[in-house]
Amino acid sequence: MTRKEQIKSAYRLTGNNAGFYDGMMTYSTFLGKAICRLVWNMDQEKNLRYIEQALSGIPEDFSGKLLEVPVGTGVLTMPVYRDLPNAEITCLDYSEDMMRKAQARAKAAGLNNVTFRQGDVGALSFPNESFDMVLSLNGFHAFPDKEAAYRETFRVLKKGGTFCGCFYIQEGCRRTDWFIEHLYVPKGFFTPPFETEQTLRARLASMYEDVTVSSVEGMGIFRCRK
Ligand SMILES: C[S@@+](CC[C@H](N)C(=O)[O-])C[C@H]1O[C@@H](n2cnc3c(N)ncnc32)[C@H](O)[C@@H]1O
Repeated sequence: MTRKEQIKSAYRLTGNNAGFYDGMMTYSTFLGKAICRLVWNMDQEKNLRYIEQALSGIPEDFSGKLLEVPVGTGVLTMPVYRDLPNAEITCLDYSEDMMRKAQARAKAAGLNNVTFRQGDVGALSFPNESFDMVLSLNGFHAFPDKEAAYRETFRVLKKGGTFCGCFYIQEGCRRTDWFIEHLYVPKGFFTPPFETEQTLRARLASMYEDVTVSSVEGMGIFRCRK
């Protein structure tokens, strides 16, 4: 099995257990809370803080073109898109199983300005400079070819556009590092190499302007402008 197939198969399981996945992402189920605390050393306040910070790059009245990659089950972003009726939003994920949940959420919420596309972040099928914003939540730790992902997200962003989001970084929490290495990588959820807060800052600064990088435990949060 190639790494991409392994990832797809791992997220097929997660997509088919969206209740478990969503509970973890939103700190809202018994098991989800236990994993947040055990693996990520995060209580509800920390969990909320990193998500709010990662989403804070989107202006409240945003009305441009936004690419979200990877959208996953859309549990974190569909509620945000409800408040962006004038934005043109494209959501992409490699796993149809994860994205199916996001599509159902968008439909239930009556979101007509959100479209979905299956695809690989490392080979995006959009022309150069197509989007005013690229949002990437919890994706770069999963992407198999990170260089291609950085290159492609940069390519499709317009000059002056915003790239923001979050993902796992090494050395933020030793316990998280242990679980990632011994569980998440072997199971195909995460793929090394991983950034640290310092390497992420340096990488983004070499490509973008106005770079801000912060962290909550083992979660790196970033925002920058092309
Ligand atoms: C941890 S989930 C994050 C989903 C969502 N953004 C969230 O925060 O809940 C990681 C996602 O990355 C997707 N993914 C992995 N490799 C990908 C690739 N090469 N291109 C696009 N999506 C990919 C997986 O299918 C999975 O849905």
